[in-house]
Amino acid sequence: MTGQAPATILGIETSCDETAAAVVLRDEFGKGSIRSNVVRSQLDEHAAFGGVVPELAARAHVTYLDHIIAQACREAGVSLDEVDAIAATAGPGLIGGVLVGLTTAKALAAALGKPLIAVNHLEAHALTARLTDGVQFPYLMLLVSGGHSQFVLVRGVGDYQRWGSTIDDALGEAFDKVAKLLTLGHPGGPAVERIARSGDPKRFKFPRPLLREARLDFSFSGLKTAVRLQAEALAPLSDQDVADIAASFQAAVAEIVAVRSRQALERFASEFPGQAMRLVVAGGVAANQTIGAALRAVCVEAGATLVVPPMALCTDNGAMVAWAGAERFALGALDDLDFTARPRWPLDLDDMRIEPDAA
Ligand code: KG4
Ligand code: ZN
Repeated sequence: MTGQAPATILGIETSCDETAAAVVLRDEFGKGSIRSNVVRSQLDEHAAFGGVVPELAARAHVTYLDHIIAQACREAGVSLDEVDAIAATAGPGLIGGVLVGLTTAKALAAALGKPLIAVNHLEAHALTARLTDGVQFPYLMLLVSGGHSQFVLVRGVGDYQRWGSTIDDALGEAFDKVAKLLTLGHPGGPAVERIARSGDPKRFKFPRPLLREARLDFSFSGLKTAVRLQAEALAPLSDQDVADIAASFQAAVAEIVAVRSRQALERFASEFPGQAMRLVVAGGVAANQTIGAALRAVCVEAGATLVVPPMALCTDNGAMVAWAGAERFALGALDDLDFTARPRWPLDLDDMRIEPDAA
């Protein structure tokens, strides 16, 4: 059953520290609705280590995934038999976790006689705005999470062009490292944002690496080092010092993201003259209000629409995987049961697993 027939898809996400499963329905008009979306975060398991421990993450996925899938089906009011296909993240991500999710999906697909759809995690982030806001192709995505910072031109399902990415740390990772050196705990992003509210964003002028260059890439490691050197120079830090450093760091990254987004929108305008411009934001850092305000200003100035899906769908979840599966299912883009997990899987490399006559 492909094409415009309605389809119910189970989605499984285990590529980092969220064990997640969801049931999503795609109707005959291509409109999606979330029937259930169950996420179990492993924050507590990893908190003591100041970051995600891959081996612990994989083990927790093994322990909880079956229950999460059962709960997702229960909440959706569907049995596994009623699902049309099983979609699971097959990469990129921590290989142990990806294997747990993909192997479970393969076992379910084989046992139930249902098709498997191996989903690229980045594609799942990229297509979420079509589930939540029905955004039409083409559009620009800014993915800013703990593992990725990139601009992607989304031309169609399976049709992506990466316009720029980080050459060192991801933006969420930079927040986490700054939080660690200011002893604010993990995950760092929300902690830095909270403390920055009482800080002076102008007290320190931290560097904006790469910003003078025209390329759409990011670099955050030099900024992180500048923050560390400043903290060392001031030590011992008063509460006000910590707040001022956090606010100044956040101001620097907000400016970097804003300038790059303006450039990316300019490129979009020149490649798609006359097209409506949409900037879709995904990833945990999308929760940051200073960055959000900077992006809103850029979009207003450029005449673009800013689309930020609800936070629960910006961070890792099963609904985005189920939806990416539903979009692929509608195109007949199914995968074999011997599909191998891919710890690295750039969106725009070999991704075109959709036959030209099916697309
Ligand atoms: O997308 P996500 O939930 O997980 C993956 O990385 O896949 O993103 C988590 C990242 C963490 O690095 C976290 O510190 C960051 O998003 N983050 C934030 C905020 N909330 C989460 N960064 C800045 N400000 C926030 N409010
Ligand atoms: Zn993610």
